[in-house]
Amino acid sequence: MIESERAVPGATAWREIPCGLVGPEHVGRAVHLAGWVHRRRDLGGVVFLHLRDRTGLVQLAFNPAWTPAEAMELLGDLNPEDVLAVEGKVDARPEEAVNPDMPTGSVEIRVTAIQRLAQSGPLPILVAVPPEEDLPSEELRLRHRVLDLRRPEMQRNFAVRHRATNAARQALSDEGFLEIETPFLTRRTPEGARDYIVPSRVHRGEFYALPQSPQLYKQLLMVAGFDRYFQIARCLRDEDLRADRQPEFTQVDVEMAFVDEDDVFGAAERMLVRMFAEAVEVEVQIPFPRMTYADALEKYGTDKPDLRIPWELRDFTEDLSGLGFGIVDGVKDAGGRIRGFVVPGGVSLSRARLDVANETARQQGAKGALWLKRNDEGWSGPPARFLEGEAGHSFAAANGVGPGDLVIMVAGPDTETSPALDALRRSIGDELGAVEDRLCWTWVTEFPLFERNPETGRPVASHHPFTMPTETDPEKLMSDPFSVGSRAYDLVLNGTELCSGSIRCHVPELQRAILGVLGMEENEIEARFGFLLEAFRYGVPPHGGFALGLDRLVAMLVGTTSIREVIAFPKTTAARGLLEGAPSAVDASELADLGLRLE
Ligand code: AMO
Repeated sequence: MIESERAVPGATAWREIPCGLVGPEHVGRAVHLAGWVHRRRDLGGVVFLHLRDRTGLVQLAFNPAWTPAEAMELLGDLNPEDVLAVEGKVDARPEEAVNPDMPTGSVEIRVTAIQRLAQSGPLPILVAVPPEEDLPSEELRLRHRVLDLRRPEMQRNFAVRHRATNAARQALSDEGFLEIETPFLTRRTPEGARDYIVPSRVHRGEFYALPQSPQLYKQLLMVAGFDRYFQIARCLRDEDLRADRQPEFTQVDVEMAFVDEDDVFGAAERMLVRMFAEAVEVEVQIPFPRMTYADALEKYGTDKPDLRIPWELRDFTEDLSGLGFGIVDGVKDAGGRIRGFVVPGGVSLSRARLDVANETARQQGAKGALWLKRNDEGWSGPPARFLEGEAGHSFAAANGVGPGDLVIMVAGPDTETSPALDALRRSIGDELGAVEDRLCWTWVTEFPLFERNPETGRPVASHHPFTMPTETDPEKLMSDPFSVGSRAYDLVLNGTELCSGSIRCHVPELQRAILGVLGMEENEIEARFGFLLEAFRYGVPPHGGFALGLDRLVAMLVGTTSIREVIAFPKTTAARGLLEGAPSAVDASELADLGLRLE
């Protein structure tokens, strides 16, 4: 190899050029390549074989005219996924053989020698899945993840992930953030999920918790004077898993001192601009719009609005009052409302589909969904008879309902109607193709400090307990906790919560009051958070930050809905690692060392 060519990224002792980088500039050259047998085609005498590595595919051409007999013989014995080292000459393909869909499609390698470096057994799942074929089940894919990851689509996902992570690191470093690691063996950080706990062998009966996030450490780093911190942090949470939730996942975790919301949002936005540009060459417009939590619930029924769907929720209560429509009068008396949205051109939705909508609303906890269609002849739907004549005209005018439009409505208290209307807005929007093809970002701000635990009715932190309240008098906070707002925010992209954060509570007595409202006695506060409150005694700067769900972001960058597609070795929704077989039983003797015994 010519020494300077080591500069080709990926050039090594075994290969001068990675497969996917061979191009017309190499025509006429003898090269060494290495990779996996992807697919072969026999054309009577000539055999074409695609050799694959991470960078892509290149076509090998075997022909007795230039390939020695022993190489032809080995060729007959090759299996898909065997590993080869190949020598040959780069040749331009004849014009009719050029493959415009393949980056290396204008060349092929006339093979002069091959060596099999490793043999592959029969494959439990295909790597070279023909485009018209479905992928194997996810269970098989996860069980045989090594083969699944070899598929070019998966290799691309991880290249995007790498570029996104790298861009985040660069963007933050360029703005003076320091990357600092924090412990894995720690004590509980309340983020709302169950902890994974690790028994201590040395201190029997005591347990470490794996961090749900580096929340308290990053705040301590602010008190420690680090001022601007970040970490590509692994977080561990024992919670119910879904397409966008894994028990271990990664955050780009950021904290800054002497800041307000504008500083934090700006840092996050500039980082995201670089992540999109460098990972997928997409230009992101900043600053992102903002809306309050209250507005998000009023207009979209959720704190994660998908703004690609242009329909906003409306309050129909007054317009439909006094018309003899019993449901409206009933919910009004009970302090509820009738809310809904107008679907332009929605009369095309069938009765059967509207029955499904009714069911969707019920699944979300509402009593059901009502519909109204405005046709040229007038109204149809359950409440149509209340809209005859002038009432119908004024309802249509007040709410912008034109001929051909559909109105979807749900009646009841907001806590029931909001989730139902959010689900209906998204499912009908999707079905009618009303989801615009663009990136819709929004910061959602001013979350309430507490939510009501639906089972106990007691306050729980809506973000986490270290968030700055809008009420700074501890007495008032404790006497009427549910009325208190907070300086917590989320960043939502196309209906997905990507980032979460807050300006923190750096006032010790206020922090104690918050923990008190959450039901902690003074001694528990001391035991669990004494170290934080003590640090706050020695000069704590005002601070705030955010954490970006990296897996969720990368899933969006590569266009998948499941974060398992962008995590190399994810768990199933039942929290199992199918490849390595985790979790697994532990010997009784190991348990005894830890002072544990199974029931
Ligand atoms: P939060 O708990 O909201 O905030 O997490 C921040 C972001 O992490 C992502 N995320 C997850 N991704 C995959 N699987 C999960 N199980 C999972 N849970 C959360 C989401 C979410 O927006 N310490 C605070 C941040 C802060 O206040 O600075 C925190 O962890 O995208």
